[in-house]
Amino acid sequence: MIRGHRSIANKNHSKTVALIFVPSAFLFYSLFNMAFHNQPSSSDSVISNDEQRSRLYDKMERDLDENGPAFLKQGETSQSLSLSDIFTLKDGYVTPILKAANPPVRANVLYLSTEYSVRISEAVKHIFNPYFDKAIWFQNSSMYHFSMFHASHHITPVPASEDEIEVEASAVHAVADDLCPLKIVLDRVVLTSTGVLLGCWQVISGTDPITIRAKLRTALPNAPEKQLYDAAILHTSFARLLGHPTATPMELHKTSDEVQFFHDLVAKLNNQIRGMEAVVSELWYVEEYDVLALALDGRTKIRRFQLGCSRTQDSKDDKHN
Ligand SMILES: *[C@@H]1O[C@H](CO)[C@@H](O)[C@H](O)[C@H]1NC(C)=O
Repeated sequence: MIRGHRSIANKNHSKTVALIFVPSAFLFYSLFNMAFHNQPSSSDSVISNDEQRSRLYDKMERDLDENGPAFLKQGETSQSLSLSDIFTLKDGYVTPILKAANPPVRANVLYLSTEYSVRISEAVKHIFNPYFDKAIWFQNSSMYHFSMFHASHHITPVPASEDEIEVEASAVHAVADDLCPLKIVLDRVVLTSTGVLLGCWQVISGTDPITIRAKLRTALPNAPEKQLYDAAILHTSFARLLGHPTATPMELHKTSDEVQFFHDLVAKLNNQIRGMEAVVSELWYVEEYDVLALALDGRTKIRRFQLGCSRTQDSKDDKHN
């Protein structure tokens, strides 16, 4: 189980992707969303989309070592679970505290079919459940998704009437008609400093997420200028750790012992599912009536659109690598 600490000597200081840590009202979002902001740099224009994603994932992989397990420092309960604001224990089960989103969030996400997600979910549970008793929340395997673009989000709410929502949904439908299904491969699993276990994917073929986000931005002119994610990222959330591991095979006295233990579990999971391939063929326009409804089994209205790949010339040009 012992594994050397990753060398961080060669970390790329010039990389311009940075985590946004947002206080108070947004704190709980940071547990969920790896929010990045991107400043254009001269190197970005010449590197491929795949390379852009790789560098981003390298950075995310270092996050736990560089920033420490911040999720362990949330307010601890008497059960020494550091359940965050958004979870509570109900009849011995971790239960999300759903909070109405006003106005509802309007998210565009790619959907990962249960054909793939169930296998991932089982591997995640098999590896993490024994050590986290109740201090873990697993993403519902029916709702594995890749966040692409928000028409309205919590930081910049963009209220819309029912008619305006219909217009947005049609515009997204038209975008979906143009997109080609993505063949993707699980590049790696990472655990962030906020306790989110993320699958980070690479694109083998199909419309690149950078192109998808650009098309959605054009189709949704009222959308917040500032989006929540790096334009290149293709990630799914698998689980959220909410507290200290219990029932570990050895005593974990120091934070560094715990971090090493987390690395070991993530390595075990990577051994099982890294390299897995999947095909993504649905774009969803989702109204989330509760905060983080897709993540927490809250109330949603989902419109599902098949990726039609109807403009073959475009799709051929979509991936520039
Ligand atoms: C998971 O999501 C599906 C689809 O929305 C839903 O039917 C099911 O009840 C959810 N499971 C749990 C445990 O909430």
